[in-house]
Amino acid sequence: MSCIVANSLSKSYGSIMAVDGIDLSVNSGKIFGFLGPNGAGKTTTIKLLTTLIAPTSGTINILGMDAIRHPLDVRKKIGVVLQQPSYEPTLSVEKSLEKYGMMWNVERKTRKDRVEELLSVFDLQEIRKMKNDDLSIGQRRRVQVAREFMHDIELLFLDEPTVGLDPSARRGLLDYIKKKVKEGLTIFFTTHILNEAEYLCDEVAIINKGKIIAVDTPNELKNKFGREKTIKIRIPETKKDIRGLLIDTKDYEIDFNSGTNITIRSNDSEEVLLKILQILTANNISIEDLSVMPTTLEEIFLTVVKNSNASNN
Ligand SMILES: Nc1ncnc2c1ncn2[C@@H]1O[C@H](COP(=O)(O)OP(=O)(O)OP(=O)(O)O)[C@@H](O)[C@H]1O
Ligand SMILES: [Mg+2]
Repeated sequence: MSCIVANSLSKSYGSIMAVDGIDLSVNSGKIFGFLGPNGAGKTTTIKLLTTLIAPTSGTINILGMDAIRHPLDVRKKIGVVLQQPSYEPTLSVEKSLEKYGMMWNVERKTRKDRVEELLSVFDLQEIRKMKNDDLSIGQRRRVQVAREFMHDIELLFLDEPTVGLDPSARRGLLDYIKKKVKEGLTIFFTTHILNEAEYLCDEVAIINKGKIIAVDTPNELKNKFGREKTIKIRIPETKKDIRGLLIDTKDYEIDFNSGTNITIRSNDSEEVLLKILQILTANNISIEDLSVMPTTLEEIFLTVVKNSNASNN
């Protein structure tokens, strides 16, 4: 079942098309990643989907409800962590969580239990009595994300939730998200850290200049756009003319930065690797080290955005 469906969704600010006719469909119980360069329209999309702003045109259905007609019903069932920090300066960490639970009418016992759970999951126990104003940026961000888990939601929107988090806090948050999704939550999240998207997302969409330019699983995107792999081979010092020996093999880009390191870029890496190994063996040249690096989501992101900019101009 889809819990987010948007059709021909647009939002303009004067002559700027912040979101330009996008279609989205996100399945329940999944993690959907929304990627794109600065100013691409990610935050605007999140604000549209969470009913914080109204679209210029298009339709939005959230959890089976028409979000344009029934924004308040939608808001009861969703959570959102915006990119802009938001906090009450004089409230303590634990009171912030507590207050959120009260706002959403979470029953007292459940509320207390959740506060304790979230304080420990988000590593806030030691600073539970501190005022938000006195926290570091990363600590404040953790409180901002943690409080969304105080109430019962079916769908959570996160706009760059890991900004400012140190590596262990980041991993902690990602793993907590994974656990919540196993329990049935759906997540729509944006990030600039593409490793994060690769680690977490079932599906990702790439948006550029208000338009969606690719949607797929991270693996399918790699198949479609990133067949090229990089192979690195290190061989011992040799008097043989390696370049001369390998020059026969076609369909690859080869780079001898020193006599003993060979870097190969090819769309047909298995084939090319096989040929090179045969040549090296036939010439009695041993291999000291060999590695094949798959394409990362980061490289695909750069390619897809570059292609889309080129085709627009
Ligand atoms: N309230 C507004 N008034 C005018 N223009 C706006 C407004 N909000 C956003 N925009 C413009 O819409 C475009 C999309 O902005 P948006 O914040 O959605 O980008 P983003 O993908 O979230 O970028 P970032 O990665 O920097 O967060 C930008 O060109 C931005 O300047
Ligand atoms: Mg943004």
